[in-house]
Amino acid sequence: MLLQKLNELEEICFPFPYREDQLHSLLTIAKAICLFINKQGQITESYEQPCGYVLYIPLDDGIEILRIGILPEYRRKHLAWSFLQYLANTLSPGDRILLEVSSLNTAAMELYRKAGFQVLRKRASYYQDGSDALILEKKLLPN
Ligand SMILES: CC(C)(COP(=O)(O)OP(=O)(O)OC[C@H]1O[C@@H](n2cnc3c(N)ncnc32)[C@H](O)[C@@H]1OP(=O)(O)O)[C@@H](O)C(=O)NCCC(=O)NCCS
Repeated sequence: MLLQKLNELEEICFPFPYREDQLHSLLTIAKAICLFINKQGQITESYEQPCGYVLYIPLDDGIEILRIGILPEYRRKHLAWSFLQYLANTLSPGDRILLEVSSLNTAAMELYRKAGFQVLRKRASYYQDGSDALILEKKLLPN
């Protein structure tokens, strides 16, 4: 079942995972979309043997990424990069991608910096470990 798989992946990928009831609300109330990636790098709705997942919410002018998680043994194989490319290709020129990341998450910060995200805002001492939350934005070039 989707919720169970997502919960399992969250607990492996994140030090402070969403609880199952939070994931349920995101999927049902916030209408979050979840996609998976397999070891061939194929992005699919199927959660059979996924290497990672992305959870995002469609916005009027783009999307907000809530999570990208890649299982530890599949990291540094450009799977998260593939998700970012894939999502950008679903959007229109001028749209934006928003997300929030801990300032101490060096892997994610480097990924998003390389992908062209810029800091929009900062929420000081936002996370449980005392780190700042950075709201990042990537604007797709207008036509
Ligand atoms: C952050 C995360 C999603 C990156 O996924 P990934 O599939 O390993 O990243 P990619 O292989 O696509 O990396 C693309 C680029 O990002 C940068 N990058 C990724 N991980 C990095 C790391 N650990 N250290 C430094 N740079 C890193 C590199 O520039 C990399 O390109 P390169 O390998 O050619 O040098 C993964 O480490 C993860 O799941 N972490 C735990 C969950 C999390 O923090 N998610 C993000 C917050 S929502």
